[in-house]
Amino acid sequence: MVHVRGILLAFVVAVVAVTTYVVLEPIPEDVDSPWMLKIISKFLILSPYGMKALPTGLVDWLDERFRAHSRASEPRVPYRDAVFDRVPVRIFADEPAGEKTDKRPAIVFYHGGGFVSSSVDMHHSLTAMLARELNAVVVSVDYRLAPKYPFPAAIDDCTAATVWFLKHIGDFNVDPGRVAIMGDSAGGNLAAATAQRLTFDPEYRDLPRPKLQVLIVPCLQAFDFHTPSYQQNGKYNTLILRRITMATYWNKYLLGNKGDVTEAMVINNHTSAAAKSSPLVQKCLSRDLIPDEFKRPDYRAPSTDFGDDALYEEIKDVLLDPDYAPLMREDLRGLPEAYILTAEYDVLRDDGIMYAKRLEKAGVPVTWKHYKTGFHALFGNLIPSEVGKQGDKDFLQFALKKL
Ligand SMILES: *[C@@H]1O[C@H](CO)[C@@H](O)[C@H](O)[C@H]1NC(C)=O
Repeated sequence: MVHVRGILLAFVVAVVAVTTYVVLEPIPEDVDSPWMLKIISKFLILSPYGMKALPTGLVDWLDERFRAHSRASEPRVPYRDAVFDRVPVRIFADEPAGEKTDKRPAIVFYHGGGFVSSSVDMHHSLTAMLARELNAVVVSVDYRLAPKYPFPAAIDDCTAATVWFLKHIGDFNVDPGRVAIMGDSAGGNLAAATAQRLTFDPEYRDLPRPKLQVLIVPCLQAFDFHTPSYQQNGKYNTLILRRITMATYWNKYLLGNKGDVTEAMVINNHTSAAAKSSPLVQKCLSRDLIPDEFKRPDYRAPSTDFGDDALYEEIKDVLLDPDYAPLMREDLRGLPEAYILTAEYDVLRDDGIMYAKRLEKAGVPVTWKHYKTGFHALFGNLIPSEVGKQGDKDFLQFALKKL
């Protein structure tokens, strides 16, 4: 009897503790779906530990159940898996060329997940939704992930699959003038980098040119982890991405398992003082690109008079490589038209804003959509919310007209 009571009591205490913890966890006042965010964030932070505690067999089984559930999520949209130039892809709503239907638009999609996680399965319903709503062929690229495969594996796979698709576009019932490349989060980085390669690498000159690049809450630079949006949002445990989360992802994409500079990244001590005030950085990441309304009263421009010269020397070639960090390319003239989605409560907000402003200055047509109550992962119903529905609707309306 005593035992049962003891166990019950422990259980009640645990439930109360967890609930209080979730309830009291700070979150910005006007963000959409705060409860959902609180619970999901807790899950995201705790699940790696939970996963480690479970037997591998059970984790694999749960993973497969989850994947199967994702694949079944949009039963009306047909798909098949294929390989484009050694890269696995999933193609939605494909139909043989020569069918008596009009040629359709296409989207090549790169999923998010911090370069280290997620999959075409996890993004199945998002990509199927795009195929259905836009009557488009969607190619979702299953690129290799860090840390096992660090930079440039992901961008090389995305480029290879996209180039193969563009070269063989005649085999699909697709209009070569109506192809978009698109991605969310790390996938937005890969979409921006692929667009740059297709535009600036002479090797691809004769390929059909993408009509549109769609960058959804993209991460575009790993030089400065103290932009106004990192300062404003990086401290919350409840907004999906913390500063430390992004630094961890960028570190794994940069170095794989070969090193860990995360701690230096979070305090901007992975770069040198000279680099911080170099003309390239002052231009590519200029604070003047970010409108004042995005700088909260407590925003402080990060200091530029410190750094770690030796560490920077080791990593600078990749850190400044536009294939890794598309914002670091100095000249953006000639890139395809862009649709860029940013969210107020997202550490990556200013990456998107700076890129939108710089593309505009370079003469590239840009549609920049900013969601004032939005958070990271609002798009594609990954986390259900009103602002997410609006984000989807706005993009679909735009794409129906544009593509
Ligand atoms: C940055 O790194 C250097 C070299 O390791 C170190 O001497 C310095 O104290 C660090 N600066 C900060 C602000 O931590």
